Amino acid sequence: MSKFAYINSKYKIFKDAKIHVEDRGLQFSDSIYEVIPLFKEKLIDYSYHIKRLKFSLKQINLKFKFDKTNFKKIINKLIILNNIKNGIIYIQITRGLQKRDHAYKKNIKPNLIIYPMKKNFNLPNKNFKGKKAITSEDLRWKRRDIKSVSLLANVLAKKIAESKGAYEAILIDKNIVTEGCSSNVWIIKKKILITHPTNTDILKGITRQAIKKLLIKEKITFKEKKFTKDYMLNADEVFVTSSGSFVTPIVKIDGVKINEGKIGKITKKLADLYYQEIKNA
Ligand code: PDD
Repeated sequence: MSKFAYINSKYKIFKDAKIHVEDRGLQFSDSIYEVIPLFKEKLIDYSYHIKRLKFSLKQINLKFKFDKTNFKKIINKLIILNNIKNGIIYIQITRGLQKRDHAYKKNIKPNLIIYPMKKNFNLPNKNFKGKKAITSEDLRWKRRDIKSVSLLANVLAKKIAESKGAYEAILIDKNIVTEGCSSNVWIIKKKILITHPTNTDILKGITRQAIKKLLIKEKITFKEKKFTKDYMLNADEVFVTSSGSFVTPIVKIDGVKINEGKIGKITKKLADLYYQEIKNA
């Protein structure tokens, strides 16, 4: 368990880090969040995460005074207080406290929560793991590009995945693969990488963007286009990307083996390249 959290200008002992019952984040999911990876004591793609946090705030008209330098200082202090080397930094901003009413009032004070969590990443070394996934109907709202805490559909699908011994639930919207419950999905067919285009149907993953840059650098062909569930089940390789899973191979989906149930060569190469990138960040 984490030791300290930061709530509205105060560092709190974790068990005392509390938010009021009428906080709008609790009652209405009127709140957005970010997850920044911490690897070997370094924040990965910090400025991109902050940019996306600001985007999410803007999309829900949540006015929050943002002091970028101070923000980084708070995070760095939390990393030291919690003595964490590898993990994630969780940031949540709620619209704030107000008597329960669907419509929010002007000028209520947002609540800011930040805390780090320890995590062991699936790294491309001798313990690199290929994981199982299931598919599940995408029941989410229509603004999945906003990193909102309205995650109930994700939560329910992920629980089904867990109960079936799977790592991720890959979401299917009208037969199209959108993304994972907490990751972006990539497939490889005839050496070409394919992932869903960025629009309001998926979250524009920061790891996805980092992989895209690597693909351009390495001159590996990729396409951002929609693909069906059957196309994915017949792919040569499948992997997911996220701040919590980096590049994670998927070797079985709904009981169907991908690449004979083994980690694919291109997936491994990308996981290696991404690992080199963050190691030297
Ligand atoms: N989730 N799609 C969804 C729905 C996600 O929740 C996430 C990340 C991603 C990948 O985005 P990124 O590469 O920026 O982490 C895609 C985080 C890790 C979470 O909710 O814990």
